[in-house]
Amino acid sequence: MEITARLMAVASFVREGAYLCDVGTDHAYLPIYLAENGRIRACLASDIHEGPCESARAHIAANGFADIIKVKRADGLSGFTPCGKTDIVIAGMGGALICEILEKAEGIKTGDVRLILQPMRNVPDLRAYLYENGFDITGEKLAREEERIYEIICAEYSGEKRTASKLSLLLGEKNIENKAQDKALFYAFCEKQAAALEKKIAGMRTGGADTGAEEELLRECRMQSAECRVLNEK
Ligand SMILES: C[S@@+](CC[C@H](N)C(=O)[O-])C[C@H]1O[C@@H](n2cnc3c(N)ncnc32)[C@H](O)[C@@H]1O
Repeated sequence: MEITARLMAVASFVREGAYLCDVGTDHAYLPIYLAENGRIRACLASDIHEGPCESARAHIAANGFADIIKVKRADGLSGFTPCGKTDIVIAGMGGALICEILEKAEGIKTGDVRLILQPMRNVPDLRAYLYENGFDITGEKLAREEERIYEIICAEYSGEKRTASKLSLLLGEKNIENKAQDKALFYAFCEKQAAALEKKIAGMRTGGADTGAEEELLRECRMQSAECRVLNEK
C-alpha cells in the first residue's frame, strides 16, 4: 500500500505495537499501511458514513487484514474505549470538528493514549484547545503535497493546562523548534501563513477594525521566515 506524504507523516507518529483507532478512516489506507508494515497490534477503523465503512471493509479484506482491522460505523469516538497503548488518529477533518470529537470522547485523558491529529482548517484553535485541556503537544510535522502544506500534531495528556503565544498557536511550537530540519518547508509554511494574515488584515482594514494584534503576529511570522532564509544561506 502506497500512501501520500501527508499520511506518511501521520503514520510516523504511530507507536510500534499500538492499538490504533482511525476516526474517519474513509478507504482505510492508513491502517492497512500500518498493518502491512507490522506496526500495529490491532485497529478499529471507524467512519460516520456507511459508504466509507463499506469501502474500508472491502480494502481491508482485499489486503488480508480483516483479522486485525475491524470497521465500525460511529460518530467520532462514541463507543470507543482505549485499550492499553492506544493511538487515536483523526486526519483530514476540520479543526473545529476534531475539537468536538475530542470534547465528547471518554477515556482519552490518560497517559496511555496518544492523539495524532491532522486538521485541514482552524489549526491554531485546535492547538489552543489541546493546551487548555491538559494535552501536551509532544511532536509536530509538516508535510507538503504539491502546493498544499499539511500540519500534523501529536499530543498526549499530562493534565497540565496552559496557554501559548499567538505565534506558537499559528506555527506550532514544535515546528518552530525543529525548523532547521527542513528549512525550505518551514520557510514556505511561514510565507503561506503570512500571506493569509495579510489578506485577513486587508479585510479587517476595509471593515474599519483594529488590526494591531494581527500586524504584530504578521511581524513575528515574517521574522521566523527571515530566520529561515538566513539558515538556508548558511
Ligand atoms: C477527507 S476524509 C479523510 C480520510 C482519512 N482520514 C484521510 O486523512 O485520508 C474524512 C472522513 O471523515 C469522515 N467523518 C466526517 N465526520 C466524522 C465524524 N464525526 N466521525 C467519524 N467520521 C467522520 C467522513 O465520512 C470521511 O470519510
